[in-house]
Amino acid sequence: MLSLLPKIIRSEAKCLKLHPFDHRNLSTLLSWIKSERELRMWAGETFPTLPNERTFRTHLNRQRVKAYQAEDQSGRFMGYAELVGRTGGDGIICRVIVDPARRGLGLGKDLVELLSEEAFRKVRFKRLLLNVFTFNTPALRCYRSLGFRPLLKRPKPRSFKGECWNLVVMQKNPSAQAA
Ligand SMILES: CC(C)(COP(=O)(O)OP(=O)(O)OC[C@H]1O[C@@H](n2cnc3c(N)ncnc32)[C@H](O)[C@@H]1OP(=O)(O)O)[C@@H](O)C(=O)NCCC(=O)NCCS
Repeated sequence: MLSLLPKIIRSEAKCLKLHPFDHRNLSTLLSWIKSERELRMWAGETFPTLPNERTFRTHLNRQRVKAYQAEDQSGRFMGYAELVGRTGGDGIICRVIVDPARRGLGLGKDLVELLSEEAFRKVRFKRLLLNVFTFNTPALRCYRSLGFRPLLKRPKPRSFKGECWNLVVMQKNPSAQAA
């Protein structure tokens, strides 16, 4: 019985729906980021310090940022991500995050898959790009599984509190198949 559980949870994840971000979920979203390290992994250099509701709302008002949320069947907030860019040009997937209590169940892949469909079919981006740190294994595997591939041969070094973190730029075309 117990061995069936991951499969059941996995199939529920497949029922995620993508909607424009509802600002009423802002405090929940911000509660998912607990440290500057997590912030940097999630959002790169977008925020100099942990954002609060005011600074995050300012971020959401930036031009060409489209914010989305993933909900389960009962409308529960499960994940967040953004598409940034101009229709017909390159789009960037940014700030993908899944509720920490529900990671490793396939939700990240489902969210990014839905977002890619939205990006290519509705927003009509020509190509999708994203940035991910090489040590962020769940994120890297998530993007690879969905057909994203490194754009540049060498990662770009970034520093965080005296550490060197390597950043990979990945890309996907509308025709790219999932791995
Ligand atoms: C990155 C993130 C969105 C992935 O979502 P998730 O629901 O945890 O991931 P999934 O369950 O969909 O799994 C995605 C892949 O990672 C693998 N994976 C998941 N958790 C893992 C772990 N702890 N260690 C190693 N691999 C892991 C899965 O097996 C899957 O790979 P596969 O398709 O090759 O089998 C999520 O971990 C997260 O919110 N992280 C914090 C924010 C962040 O770093 N965002 C990314 C910014 S670029």
